[in-house]
Amino acid sequence: MNDQLIQLPGCVVVCDTMDELLGRLGQAWADAAKQAVAKQGVFHAALSGGSTPKPFYEMLASDARYSDLPWAKTHLWIVDERRVPEDDEQNNYRMIHGALVDRVAVPAGQVHPVPVLADDPAAGYEQELRRVFGDEGTARLDFVVLGMGDDAHTASLFPGSPALSVYDKWVVNNIGPQVTPPPRITMTYPLLNAARHVAVLATGSKKAPTLRRVEKQLSDHGPDSRELPITGIKPTDGTLTWYLDAAAVG
Ligand code: 6PG
Repeated sequence: MNDQLIQLPGCVVVCDTMDELLGRLGQAWADAAKQAVAKQGVFHAALSGGSTPKPFYEMLASDARYSDLPWAKTHLWIVDERRVPEDDEQNNYRMIHGALVDRVAVPAGQVHPVPVLADDPAAGYEQELRRVFGDEGTARLDFVVLGMGDDAHTASLFPGSPALSVYDKWVVNNIGPQVTPPPRITMTYPLLNAARHVAVLATGSKKAPTLRRVEKQLSDHGPDSRELPITGIKPTDGTLTWYLDAAAVG
């Protein structure tokens, strides 16, 4: 681990190999899960889609190091979803179900896919969050796994898109010229920034230029989340940790 390779807010973990990097993220997940269950009897995790986190989810499901995770007391939420049916290969839950949900003993009532076929999926998902967390203040997820697109989007918070300026909802439908089709449903900054632990997993050389843009923007004039949405991830009372491989920091 070397946090001198790139200057980003929060903690930066850089590992030479993917196995080492996913092991660090796995340890953070395990620590957060055990702490949450010990303190509140339940662990709420929110998972992103895309390609990067899939091996992490598969590792959690299959690696003996994580065989004692408290799955029976875990709730799995989806950070963002594409408005396509669950059997569509673009559907994030389809990937998460195959990589993790179908392989660990999380009770069915504790797995929360986005109701993509509902008239208003975002409203339906927020209702589900409020059913589980209650209405007192913003729900506090215990662990959020985020990715980052080449345009510095995270979740489905795309540059210049309407969802970036939504602060009175936990989940919102997002659409527009900057939103990579299909239409999206996404957790908003208020919900993501209320989390206890936020992990950004970015790997591969394709992510290096974007990470450097983030680093430069932050050092030059501070965050501008309309241009680089990942810079809007600033946990209010939680931790932010970047999990990067050597290729991603160039
Ligand atoms: C999605 C993801 C999205 C993802 C980034 C990075 O629905 O696509 O939630 O935010 O994290 O697009 O995707 P990769 O991991 O595939 O590079």
